[in-house]
Amino acid sequence: MSVHKPDDGEASSRRSDSRAVDRRPVTIHDLRAAKERGERFTMLTAYDHGSAALLDELGVPVILVGDSLGMVVLGYDSTVPVTLDEMLHHTRAVARGAPHSLVVGDLPFGTYQDGPSQALASATRMMKEARANAVKIEGGGPMVEVTAHLVRAGIPVMAHLGLTPQSVHQFGGFKVQGREATAADQLVEDALALQDAGAFSLVLEAVPTDLGTRVTEALEIPTIGIGAGPGTDGQVLVWHDVLGLSTGRLPRFVKQYADLRADIAGAVKAFQAEVADGEYPGPEHAY
Ligand code: KIV
Repeated sequence: MSVHKPDDGEASSRRSDSRAVDRRPVTIHDLRAAKERGERFTMLTAYDHGSAALLDELGVPVILVGDSLGMVVLGYDSTVPVTLDEMLHHTRAVARGAPHSLVVGDLPFGTYQDGPSQALASATRMMKEARANAVKIEGGGPMVEVTAHLVRAGIPVMAHLGLTPQSVHQFGGFKVQGREATAADQLVEDALALQDAGAFSLVLEAVPTDLGTRVTEALEIPTIGIGAGPGTDGQVLVWHDVLGLSTGRLPRFVKQYADLRADIAGAVKAFQAEVADGEYPGPEHAY
């Protein structure tokens, strides 16, 4: 995305580079413009200040403080137990670290499903207390009215369809959605309704590739896929998955771009060994 595209070498030198002052914060309108230009973009999750600052510096246009927080950081077995206070705590840290990226805060399960008033109260806290630039909510149907209510209040809404993890118990597991023709048609209908309600973008999770492409072509707002094939406008992955920090069986859509678990293990073992051998601290580390 042009407002964020770093020149070669900018990532490491941004803070001392006068061109950095030209960067302006990414807005929801930039994402729409990227779609109109046919420019694909990335979104990554972050849950703390340091990783958010790095993503911001690297020019990642959208940072999602996902409620995946519950599974990759807090040790829950699903996103269902995550509380609004937990989301606010982490979103605040991310927002402080990312002055340029668009920071989207996930509203967790049970903080918006009761309807527009509950959703507005939760989203207002996300914007005011955590300083998110937008919120994300899961689902279609009744979430269309919720979306419209938030947008009328001036809160940008990222929608989320397909495998919506907060409904994992309803789905009976983390399963691909929209395989049947009627389910696929319903998803397209929901997507159009959420767009009409004012959502600025739509996450599509774990749906067949042809459905990901079909929804993307049907919408004017950008789609951001995770397990939705190559036809969406953007792609999102979870920080721990991309960097090889996750444990256990990973979904098919994950591509690991690094193996940081192995790197960390190597570093920790080296530290342990050097302490045991009396090699660390050396004279250069002592006062
Ligand atoms: O919570 C999350 O990280 C998400 C993404 C996987 C889209 O919702």
